[in-house]
Amino acid sequence: MSEIAVDALTLDQAREELARLSTELAHHDRLYHQQDAPEISDADYDALKRRALDIEDRFPELTQDDSPSQVVGAAVSSQFAEVRHGVPMLSLDNAFAAEDVRDFEARIRRFLKLPADERVAFAVEPKIDGLSASLRYEDGVLVVGATRGDGRTGEDVTANLRTLSDVPQKLKGSGWPAVIEVRGEVYAPNDGFDAFNQAAEAEGRRTYANPRNFAAGSLRQKDPAITASRPLKFFAYAWGETSDPFAETQSDALKALESWGFPVNPRSTRVEGAEALLGLYDRLQADRATLGYDIDGIVYKVDRLDWQQRLGFVSRTPRWAVAHKFPAQQAQTVLEGIDVQVGRTGSLTPVARLHPVTVGGVVVRNATLHNEDEIARKDVRIGDTVILQRAGDVIPQILSVVLEKRPADAKPYVFPTHCPVCGSEAERPEGEVRRRCTGGLICDAQLVERLKHFVGRRAFDVEGLGEKQLVAFHERGWLKEPADIFRLARDAEKLDALRAEDGYGETSVANLVAGIDARRVIALDRLIFALGIREIGEQTSLLLARHFGAWDAFHAAALEAASGMPSPEWTRLAEGHGVSPRTLSVMAAADLPAADPWPEAPIDQKLALVFPGVAAPARRALAELAPDWPAIVELARVAREDGPSATLGEIAGIAGVGPVAARAVAAFFHEPHNRAVVDALIDQLDRVEDAERPKTDTAVAGKTVVFTGALERFTRDEAKARAEALGAKVSGSVSKKTDYLVAGPGAGSKLAEARKHGVTVLTEDEWLALIGAG
Ligand code: IVH
Repeated sequence: MSEIAVDALTLDQAREELARLSTELAHHDRLYHQQDAPEISDADYDALKRRALDIEDRFPELTQDDSPSQVVGAAVSSQFAEVRHGVPMLSLDNAFAAEDVRDFEARIRRFLKLPADERVAFAVEPKIDGLSASLRYEDGVLVVGATRGDGRTGEDVTANLRTLSDVPQKLKGSGWPAVIEVRGEVYAPNDGFDAFNQAAEAEGRRTYANPRNFAAGSLRQKDPAITASRPLKFFAYAWGETSDPFAETQSDALKALESWGFPVNPRSTRVEGAEALLGLYDRLQADRATLGYDIDGIVYKVDRLDWQQRLGFVSRTPRWAVAHKFPAQQAQTVLEGIDVQVGRTGSLTPVARLHPVTVGGVVVRNATLHNEDEIARKDVRIGDTVILQRAGDVIPQILSVVLEKRPADAKPYVFPTHCPVCGSEAERPEGEVRRRCTGGLICDAQLVERLKHFVGRRAFDVEGLGEKQLVAFHERGWLKEPADIFRLARDAEKLDALRAEDGYGETSVANLVAGIDARRVIALDRLIFALGIREIGEQTSLLLARHFGAWDAFHAAALEAASGMPSPEWTRLAEGHGVSPRTLSVMAAADLPAADPWPEAPIDQKLALVFPGVAAPARRALAELAPDWPAIVELARVAREDGPSATLGEIAGIAGVGPVAARAVAAFFHEPHNRAVVDALIDQLDRVEDAERPKTDTAVAGKTVVFTGALERFTRDEAKARAEALGAKVSGSVSKKTDYLVAGPGAGSKLAEARKHGVTVLTEDEWLALIGAG
């Protein structure tokens, strides 16, 4: 289907298109930010987003709270504390063709006004395909490690970075500046990635699409022990803030970094002139698949740092460096089958089962087929030889079919209309690209997936009850809902069966029971997250828990929101037809007699009379819905009575929650079956712990605090938890916005920084006195 230019869209087409784009973008945001598992390339994502913004630009009346222009995709998930980088972490401009590289050198020469006989030397390094990290050393000791985040503020993953053997805790040698932010790439070698995925697949745990997502997912773990168990490595190639200069060229800087204990890429080198750069590009590309880790290009940096300084930056990229990208890696293989997977929420996803093939050093067995439309569009058939592409930033993709190799008997693929697991009908909601199983909890796929989610580490975290046990207990018919897990611990008969038939020893049974019983007391945010409500991730659960404070308050609000779900007629009016909130309130306020006071007037005039101030385009939309007087009266009633309840609005209004998540909560509790499951679960629990509501009435509420130095009265984690419970915000670096710096012995650069900005500096005792704990 060819895309209509935004300029040519009618209002109705624009509305439909914007709704479709919003759904699609939200889906990709979730995959990227919450699951480290994007399905489309960054470039494709940007194109979708751009189109949505163009539509909103042209039709501002279509903008709603959850429109693409209102949604910030890259919100730093605050599972980690924020760290403000001393110097922003920028990115690189890209070059694709040889011409771009020659232009790059020519631009530099012009900018620096170099004479014809002056040569430009470049430091050349592979572009490692991982995620960048910044390691802050004060007096040679690692104090903070952070992800890039949005470039200015990253996530504090110090504890996780400390588990990498490539990351020195203390700098070796000599000559390092008192303060230095060392930057480089965290990556996963191909063999480690393959081994992890194969083991994960065998055990039915989640696999990652590529080494980069694997590295990102492994680094951003709450529990550093998990990061430690993953094969992560690090190459240093840059630096941020430094208290003193330490080199005159990029290549000398790399040598210095190496002497202080950092791994530096062995293919790093120094050459002069654009033609030499292109020679290195070809050589590196030829060796690409043999390096043992993913690279997606080569980086050229002007070697002289004084020249880098003069060249400076254009917006967010340096003029002195460029990334020359390699094309995506491709291979051919045979499509052996199409598996349709059923997710926790019932969505059906087709996955290509491939004859295993190595693409750029990584063994690929599966590729995404996205959805049924994609399969039809590419006309992919079982038995086909397909061209497979692995680009760094996406799950392996099937590009096209090699038609010459198609077996004579290959038939077009027919997407199942029933759930492959439970046989229930799989329907495709209007405007969505995925089919969804309608079986709910009678569908084993959804049930097992939900139970897995329920006992997961971030939810109930039941010790001794992993996927293997869940599946086994489910197969025995013991688990039909979460409450059954708790019932099992008190069911002597079933526990006997475990001893007699499953070879459980006395200790194993005791451990299982203890693991389950330990979770009869659960934190509110974990409980909400564990319910597995669509759209309600860990972060949103925390926001809901903090807002409502206690289970009873949340539960009451959710039920109230569910009973006040807008009627389908109202939703159609407000969303399907894009009637603005203002028009809705005009309609709701209208007091209309049952009999038509102007039987002779045309419909548009009637609408103008009864709904004053409603503009002509909106009236035209209404005229379609209400061709006569009784229909107008009915529309006014729908606007007045059928809208969402105030509670739904309250939930939607919680900062960071929004209307989509609020509706998902309401829809979940609207379902009688879900209400019963929740009630049964609560029955089994001893207590739901109230959420700590951020305090607003303490001396430090709303203040930003930084802790530094060797703290003696409390640990850093303790200090942070305590400060946050009192409503303060804890940051990893000092800026103008910092209110207090709490400095223990040996505080260094942060202390200096605080003095510079006039930030109040407190001793540990002064801090304790301030918070009333002294
Ligand atoms: S230099 C101011 N060198 O590529 C420029 N970046 O597209 C700082 N990367 O965010 C970056 N290998 O994650 C540089 N040898 C290398 C690199 C490299 C990989 C990544 C890095 C950066 C991205 C920029």
